[in-house]
Amino acid sequence: MSDTIAVVGSNMMDLVTYIERMPARGETLAAPDFAMGFGGKGANQAVAAARLGSKVAMVTCVGDDGFGAQVRANLESNGIDTTHVRTVEGSASGVAPIFVEPDGENAILIVKGANAALAPSDVDGAAEMLRGASAILLQLEVDLATVYHAVAFGAREGITTILNPAPAHRDLDIAQLDGLDWFCPNESELALLTGLPTDTEADVTAAARHLIARGIRNVVVTLGGRGARRITADHVEEIAPVAVTPVDTTGAGDAFIGAFAHYLGAGHAPTEALTRAARYAALSITRRGTQTSYATAPEFAEFLSEHALD
Ligand code: RIB
Ligand code: NA
Repeated sequence: MSDTIAVVGSNMMDLVTYIERMPARGETLAAPDFAMGFGGKGANQAVAAARLGSKVAMVTCVGDDGFGAQVRANLESNGIDTTHVRTVEGSASGVAPIFVEPDGENAILIVKGANAALAPSDVDGAAEMLRGASAILLQLEVDLATVYHAVAFGAREGITTILNPAPAHRDLDIAQLDGLDWFCPNESELALLTGLPTDTEADVTAAARHLIARGIRNVVVTLGGRGARRITADHVEEIAPVAVTPVDTTGAGDAFIGAFAHYLGAGHAPTEALTRAARYAALSITRRGTQTSYATAPEFAEFLSEHALD
């Protein structure tokens, strides 16, 4: 078995505008700054894992425009295998206009573009690579049918599957996720997907157990500034938060997932992998942008030495 992490998912060009406040409807407002950067939940998770030293391959679709070529080149410059990156003729690449407020909070629009074309047949086309992977990473910026197909493939072939159900998608059918190894929502995604409240700690655990009763092995709920919680059928475990001053939270969730896959793939126990992932995400929110904020392994080692693992 190889140690490749396979990401089946999206890529976007992030169009990040740093704002003082959101304009009201009909209002024109000057904003202090703008930056373009590479994003998309799939590509972000792939780049996080790659920067930490994992071998990564991506199954994704780009448009036949300038952004598509740049996205492909960006994946390659991060050492990611692009054999299964498909260019969709006549389609625009995915873009994400993002607005970041002075406190680091964001609002994001996603325009899927070519990502909407990623199909079950793309998963089948990459079957040989996927069979040799240590994990398949999935998100919800592509067709649900493609996500279900990849989960079923992983379950059948005995490959660890990790699904980050973001952005929240009301139509996600839990019955199609039978055998999924890791389900990693935030609180609001968990509430939307289960239809259950997530207001208290007991609520979060109960909602996660509802998913476990339906065939998902582990649920990891990210709790923002309160850390994360791992819930299995008979076990609840808290992952402590790391206090940092936020600059730009965009892509922090993806940093967490990519780092988790990296450390799990590198042989760390889940608790250790999650603890490190929380720190990797914390570091990313102290920096501007999405992939631009993801540390390399040496940079992260330095951060870890300042924020001791206990
Ligand atoms: O999770 C952050 C990402 O969401 C951004 O990079 C943007 O592209 C959207 O997909
Ligand atoms: Na960031």
